Amino acid sequence: MNLEKNLPLKKIAVLTSGGDSPGMNAAIRSVVRSGVTQGLEVLGINHGYLGLLKKMSTPLQLRSVSNILQRGGTILKAGRCLDFLQEDHRKAAAQFLKTAGVEGLIVIGGDGSYRGALALGKEHQIPVVGVPGTIDNDIHGTEMTIGFDTAVNTALEAIDRIRDTAASLDRLFIVEVMGRESGHIAVEVGLAGGAEAILIPENPIPVEEIVQQIQRGIQRGKTSSILVAAEGQKPGRTYDLAEQIRKKSGFEAKVCILGHIQRGGSPTATDRNLASRMGAAAVQVLLQGKANLMISQQSHQIVMSSLEVASKGKRAVDKDLIKLAQVLAN
Ligand code: F6P
Repeated sequence: MNLEKNLPLKKIAVLTSGGDSPGMNAAIRSVVRSGVTQGLEVLGINHGYLGLLKKMSTPLQLRSVSNILQRGGTILKAGRCLDFLQEDHRKAAAQFLKTAGVEGLIVIGGDGSYRGALALGKEHQIPVVGVPGTIDNDIHGTEMTIGFDTAVNTALEAIDRIRDTAASLDRLFIVEVMGRESGHIAVEVGLAGGAEAILIPENPIPVEEIVQQIQRGIQRGKTSSILVAAEGQKPGRTYDLAEQIRKKSGFEAKVCILGHIQRGGSPTATDRNLASRMGAAAVQVLLQGKANLMISQQSHQIVMSSLEVASKGKRAVDKDLIKLAQVLAN
């Protein structure tokens, strides 16, 4: 539904914004195929919000999204566009969309991308719908974001491999995973990978306590240990942590930084299906004349939640899982 004129919707646009995440292509495919099947034209915006400012777009048909379901990254390309924080740039973006005949915009990305979408929607009456695409899984209103499951499994595979060599050489490892402001990946991977400690920005642990945890493990007969740390604001911070541990205890910790490896790769079945369901639901929301909503997963169901709420702050991690990982690593 075209909100202003109360006419059936004819054309929508889709973009991917922020850091890419595995499964974004599956979401684009779902938006395009469910949209076109229901009589819509779908315009792909390239390079996230920058594409709106630079007028970079591609009309997408059924065959434009062939063979992308299994591919990581995003065929539309993504990006963080600081210019979009400025009102005059958003005005130009809205002008571009309106001239192109676009009556609804689907934004696949994280909370920062939603702030831009909401501002665009409010200032220029463009219906916007969010689809949660980020490996961080830290968005309010949804229990799962597209890309998280793949990133966790990628990191887990690495940890399993590291455990082989750690056990063979009786070593202590600290594995750094992604997550600038949130530790969801670290917690999930730490629990699944049997980490002796999980270190995340939301739950700082003094070095002395980390050392005590390692020592307790040794007393119980452990000859090797793996700690999982979220990168926090300073990717590579784990080297500092290893140095602090060495100074306090004399333990030599090997550091492995997984970094952007976690953002790539073929999405898992869970991510592909989540993306497929969410992409189709986003189109449905626009066809129903609704706006300012995010497609979310709650109790395994695909539902709608507030885009405003999703744009604010970060969803908290379950700190009980950290304690559980600690108990199970005994
Ligand atoms: O997209 C989320 C994320 O991967 C975070 O986990 C990470 O901290 C950050 O992006 C890295 O961003 P960039 O790729 O811009 O270095």
